[in-house]
Amino acid sequence: MDEKLEYAEQWEVSSKYFYDKNYYNWMQTKIKDYNIILEVGCGTGYSTLSLLENGHKVIALDKNSECIEKAKMLIQQSGYSVGNLSDADVLFIKADIAVEEFYSQLLSSLHFDAVICWNVGSYWNKDTIRYYLPYMLEYGLNVFQIQQNPESSYSELILWNACKIAAIRNVPVHIVDRAGEIINETNDEYYCTLRAEFAFSDLDFDNLQADSVSGGGRMLVTNGSINREEIIETMLVSIFMK
Ligand SMILES: C[S@@+](CC[C@H](N)C(=O)[O-])C[C@H]1O[C@@H](n2cnc3c(N)ncnc32)[C@H](O)[C@@H]1O
Repeated sequence: MDEKLEYAEQWEVSSKYFYDKNYYNWMQTKIKDYNIILEVGCGTGYSTLSLLENGHKVIALDKNSECIEKAKMLIQQSGYSVGNLSDADVLFIKADIAVEEFYSQLLSSLHFDAVICWNVGSYWNKDTIRYYLPYMLEYGLNVFQIQQNPESSYSELILWNACKIAAIRNVPVHIVDRAGEIINETNDEYYCTLRAEFAFSDLDFDNLQADSVSGGGRMLVTNGSINREEIIETMLVSIFMK
């Protein structure tokens, strides 16, 4: 199966589980005061749906066209309209936020009140890493760090870009990360560096003990096959900066 489609089908399973468990609703409470949300990495649309149900308008970006197709279908089947935000609820755009063209050709035409980046960055393969290598080096990682930990290197690149978009437009950014433990101001060694780099004045943490179904997001692979039924405990870490 095409890799993009395979990813979309897997993430659809995980994100439906998140939706059914109301996790997106919890994430949304952190940005409830902001109307138009720029959603970085909308996936298959369950997070977008939750934003719409809570009254937001959404600009939903994703680099995976298969995810966008599934997201559009879900949103339309749920009774929301897709198109320009002047007369629709959600605008879908296929875009890669980590590359130069996003900044030079797209960003200035988008108008939004907050940026969100929920559960993004866990998907990579060797081609992904090769393609993004110059951007990761530009961001400040060295080749050794990237080789040692390609997954978190890619994740950092995406989070850094989400913060960069918010800082350029002087709006808040809300990140949700999946972690093995509670992360807050007492043990955080990473988000405080993003806050300093982009000169955000506030940094707020919250944590939700959650679980996640494997088979989406390539979370649990044993001997090359994905354990779809397996439920994994995870901490959803909310990081809000403005
Ligand atoms: C794990 S899903 C999360 C989707 C959604 N935020 C949610 O919480 O359900 C991550 C999504 O981010 C997208 N993504 C990853 N890197 C990206 C990039 N550089 N630009 C745009 N989208 C990206 C992937 O294609 C994928 O659909």
